[in-house]
Amino acid sequence: MFIVVIIVAFIALQFFQPEKNNQAIDNNHIFSSTDIPAPIQEILKSACLDCHSNQTRYPWYDRISPVSWYVTNHIEEGKEELNFSEWKRLSAIDKISLLNKICEETEEKKMPLKNYTAMHKSAKLTDKQIAELCNWAESYGMKIFKANL
Ligand code: HEC
Repeated sequence: MFIVVIIVAFIALQFFQPEKNNQAIDNNHIFSSTDIPAPIQEILKSACLDCHSNQTRYPWYDRISPVSWYVTNHIEEGKEELNFSEWKRLSAIDKISLLNKICEETEEKKMPLKNYTAMHKSAKLTDKQIAELCNWAESYGMKIFKANL
């Protein structure tokens, strides 16, 4: 009997789903400028954009409540700090500071989140990729700085 209650509750829970994070990409996206190198785009796509953009790819297990709520919470918190879909709206100083943090967080292995790489193996960055991302972030930050002197 108890197991039936659990199963019914679980099924009922599936009717309560958070809103999906999948808006259309517009011109404010960081990739809408042509100067982001392809390997960097690949790194961001595979390891960051699910939580730091308005376009999340949802594997099947992310659609199951309560996992879906847990995931949505991470996406909301992640987007609050950094949203690559809104990149072009940021001031130069915010961009530069975020680029610094992108390097810092990945070098310290704080990003992408461990819970995420446990489920998304392709999001695990190699040391080479981290170095690549950092080099890019540094030179892109410098470019923005110089353009705004
Ligand atoms: C599973 C979701 C998830 C993924 C994937 C992810 N992040 Fe985050 N990120 C978060 C959350 C949640 C926060 C805010 C809370 C925190 O700092 O832990 C955050 C915060 C940040 C911050 C701001 C930190 C600060 O202290 O201001 C940066 C920068 C960042 N992430 C960069 C990245 C980069 C770069 C990647 C890809 C290499 C990435 N994140 C992948 C969820 C994610």
